Amino acid sequence: MRITDIIEKKRDGRELSTEEINFFIDGLCSGNIYEYQASALLMAIYIRGLNSRETADLTAAMAGSGETVDLSEIPGIKVDKHSTGGVGDKTTLVIGPIVAACGVPVAKMSGRGLGHTGGTIDKLESVRGFRTSLTKEEFIMNVKEIGIAISGQTGNLAPADKLLYALRDVTATISSVPLIASSVMSKKLASGSDRIVLDVKTGSGAFMKTLEDSVRLAEEMVSIGELTGRKTVAVITDMDTPLGNCIGNALEVKEAMEILKGNGPEDLKAVCFELAARMLELGDKGDISACRELVKNSIRSGNALKKFGELAARQGAEFEPWDERAMPGASVRHIVSAPREGYIASMRAELVGKASMLLGAGRKTKDGPLDHSAGIVLLKKTGGYVKKGEEIAELHTSSRQLLPEAEAMLIQAYEIRAEAPATRPLILAYADESGVIRY
Ligand code: URA
Repeated sequence: MRITDIIEKKRDGRELSTEEINFFIDGLCSGNIYEYQASALLMAIYIRGLNSRETADLTAAMAGSGETVDLSEIPGIKVDKHSTGGVGDKTTLVIGPIVAACGVPVAKMSGRGLGHTGGTIDKLESVRGFRTSLTKEEFIMNVKEIGIAISGQTGNLAPADKLLYALRDVTATISSVPLIASSVMSKKLASGSDRIVLDVKTGSGAFMKTLEDSVRLAEEMVSIGELTGRKTVAVITDMDTPLGNCIGNALEVKEAMEILKGNGPEDLKAVCFELAARMLELGDKGDISACRELVKNSIRSGNALKKFGELAARQGAEFEPWDERAMPGASVRHIVSAPREGYIASMRAELVGKASMLLGAGRKTKDGPLDHSAGIVLLKKTGGYVKKGEEIAELHTSSRQLLPEAEAMLIQAYEIRAEAPATRPLILAYADESGVIRY
């Protein structure tokens, strides 16, 4: 078998066999297939697609490309959660502690930023001392002892995804249903949890821009989960507007803590609470309304915030995460003003994410550095009314030179009009094995 024949076959729109998919993943992991060849095949898949059988084969090959984690020694139902990525999406930082505080063990493996979206691991690393690479033993021990651990993919978990994820990030091959479905589900299958809640983002800041594509992605992932014996549900949530007001690593951790303290923006709170309730429901903590109550109580009692503190201390944070010294603050701050008067009719969330990357919050190359203090605080969002010159956002960075391009991009992201925009629900649909419900 030759990789060039496989690339050619997919380039021409033909179906790949199970053996060809396995050959690709084996070759990628052993180094016999080079990054430029993998990139070419990714682009062919991006353009031509994969059918459900090919997607399931790719998922299985990626899940089997390294170790799998056995969580059976942790008592209770282990429920995992994964977001398909968005701008300002810091939900894991809020949901993990809530769910753990309610007694469902959270053994969470997370990723780094991808494209214009941030990643939980980069965010947690903005907390001074926070260690995100745990050994398998430490990971399991922490979940057993404090009910929660959040780690980068330990050791050799789904290494094929690690390689492909980093390549897709820099080859414009991210937003593809089969590539996202196989990436997400391979990690979920290898990381050993019993049940899975997926947060499928939809809109201008998501990889899936339309509700139809997001529903297709949700159905594909739910079906892979069910085929492999893991009960899987998906909540499709809005990502047309950035979630919450903060974008950028340290800024997002601070905002997540506000929610855990019982404050914070309503949109972020609503999405986090719904996902947490769905996780508790899968963790057999009662029906969905009972689980929604449990979530609220965990905030009211302060237990969820306390759990975040325990998690940070256990993973090496030098200060309590709510201590001023726990995270870097940006040395340069710059206010962006509204270019005209009117309603903010919509926001191009992807451009907001890109502007934040330009300020230093994301990587330019796959192993490049990032600035944990960089990002954007949105002072006005979709639906708000602004006067010309009114403050709409604050840019945070370490380098003044980065401001002009980021500011121009952010201004482009705001669409200001005379009429108020129609409101759109934050939770758009729900999918499980019995089908899709649209709200
Ligand atoms: N999240 C993932 O884990 N993989 C993707 O491809 C996109 C989002």
